[in-house]
Amino acid sequence: MSPFTVTRLLPSDDTTAALHADVRRGLGATPKSLPPKWFYDARGSLLFEQITELPTYYATRAERDLLSTRAGDIAEATGARTLIELGSGSSSKTRLLLDALPHLHTYIPVDVSESALRDAGTVLARERPALTVQALIADFTNRLTLPPAPGPRIVALLGSTIGNLMPVQRAAFYALVRELLEPGDTLLLGVDLVKSEDVLVAAYADQAVTGQFNANVLRVLNRELNADFDLDAFEHVALWDARRAWIEMRLRSRLAQTVKIPALDMAVSFAEGEDLLTEISAKFTVPGLASELRCAGLDLARWFCAPAQLVGLALATPVRSLHDCLHATGRSTACIR
Ligand code: SAH
Ligand code: TRP
Repeated sequence: MSPFTVTRLLPSDDTTAALHADVRRGLGATPKSLPPKWFYDARGSLLFEQITELPTYYATRAERDLLSTRAGDIAEATGARTLIELGSGSSSKTRLLLDALPHLHTYIPVDVSESALRDAGTVLARERPALTVQALIADFTNRLTLPPAPGPRIVALLGSTIGNLMPVQRAAFYALVRELLEPGDTLLLGVDLVKSEDVLVAAYADQAVTGQFNANVLRVLNRELNADFDLDAFEHVALWDARRAWIEMRLRSRLAQTVKIPALDMAVSFAEGEDLLTEISAKFTVPGLASELRCAGLDLARWFCAPAQLVGLALATPVRSLHDCLHATGRSTACIR
């Protein structure tokens, strides 16, 4: 067996405090919202895996196909000895990369979902005795302290998870990644592309599985905060916001109701038809992506995409110096949104 360790960078007290703060803020605000990371308890992670197999959810299949044809190019371009994967989930597509990287020494999957990390890591350690697997239970939107591992390194965020961050969180995320990257390291980003509204909405509108996944955040609140959300009193809704180029997943209250959250000493009223925003999923264009990366001191070095243009894979490298960075941004106002 190869070395497989799981390290919790998030003390459970901090997780509880973060959940309390997020729920207080999000359900106390107008419009109401919750951050998407709370979907992913063990049940949420399993439901997510089922989403990836839905006929309407094209993104996982498209990214897997792209990785299988381009993993060799990624290996060649990066020469990576360490792969750090943020939001690694089941690590299933990652195997394509692990197989293609001839010099790979260490794999560091990072996720908030302990169950997903343990399931994926246990299998990988058995299958790949030569690989060191050091799983981290951590929130990748916080600054990460990574274990020492040989470079060059790839920091990967696949599955268009980048699109689930709000624009300001995205900018903060790029800044954290930029800090992590040393010369020779690469960011590998899997993004979903802007396409027709029908295809986009169908990918998120599924009631049976995606609806359950969406409502899972209410189950988490019921369990962790002793709340009394009636799951049947909310409808799963997926909308395309063309101006902001993102899908919104919402939970729409079917009736006027008040939900009690005893752990926070809170009562939250919903009007009939009122929405709770649970997740956005932003869609990208290549120029838009290149520009936001540049604003963070990252250069879109390579871009891979299949002829159907469903999803793409970006390799971004740190811009070498402040001078290059200013040059790359053209000192323009393009970065100020
Ligand atoms: N990379 C996989 C899974 C994508 S789903 C794929 O491409 O299929 C998003 C994953 O990110 C889930 O496993 C979820 O638990 C994790 N996640 C979401 N927000 C996170 C955060 N803030 N920090 C760490 N992990 C997060
Ligand atoms: N990041 C992917 C996306 O936005 C996967 C994903 C996260 C997802 N949450 C989801 C897919 C909810 C469907 C529904 O598509």
